[in-house]
Amino acid sequence: MGELERWPAPGTRIHRALAQAGVASRRRAEEMVAGGRVRVNGETAVIGQPVGPGDTITVDDRPVRPEPVRVLVLNKPRGVVTTVSDPQGRPTVLDDLPDDVRLFPVGRLDIDTTGVLLLTNDGELTNRLLHPRGKVAKAYEALVEGRVSAETLRVLRSGVDLDDGITHPARVDPMDRQHPGGTWLRLEITEGRNRIVKRMCAAVGHPVMRLHRARFAGLGTQGLKPGQWRVLTADELRRVRRAAGLDGAKEAA
Ligand code: URA
Repeated sequence: MGELERWPAPGTRIHRALAQAGVASRRRAEEMVAGGRVRVNGETAVIGQPVGPGDTITVDDRPVRPEPVRVLVLNKPRGVVTTVSDPQGRPTVLDDLPDDVRLFPVGRLDIDTTGVLLLTNDGELTNRLLHPRGKVAKAYEALVEGRVSAETLRVLRSGVDLDDGITHPARVDPMDRQHPGGTWLRLEITEGRNRIVKRMCAAVGHPVMRLHRARFAGLGTQGLKPGQWRVLTADELRRVRRAAGLDGAKEAA
């Protein structure tokens, strides 16, 4: 991607340059700088130090070079955890992905949730996609217990009072899909709070039995069976970057 070909752009703060190069998240990179592990042209870096294309950057005396940007979409299967390593030894979303670059999941899907999960080594893109201000669209298909009344749909749409605040307005519609004893709902939300869909539905008396993320930042799982992944096309990457507020005007996702 253009962004990394010029890496780091003149005046980029050191922690941000490290995140762009896939070394660590911006916060962790700042800790590395604070811990004296980072040098710029042989001198110990200071927090907030601007760097540019001619600078030689090292972490623990190892040179940092930007990795090629990689963005993948995985159709996450049930039973795998969204983490880079699991202390309990359960399968993770990284197990069947290429390991030539260090990939990080963009956000988290619960172990029993299926569907669209992006993975990338681009820390800046990850931050933008996850930042609440970005309001990146996510669409979920949820099978919930019981029959959902019109009044309950109204509550789900206008805002549900959860322990960490009222949910933002959402699009919530019954799907054209039947289930004995349950209701399939499609929920389009822009928030990324932990377990938000399950908490919203449980709060209105309809616990979630199955959850699938159908879209994230405009991407779906078309052509991908559960567990399958692919690299984004250049066009998809452009759209995702725009949905994240990078490269020009934000696009409806
Ligand atoms: N909301 C949830 O409750 N779980 C997920 O995995 C994603 C969104």
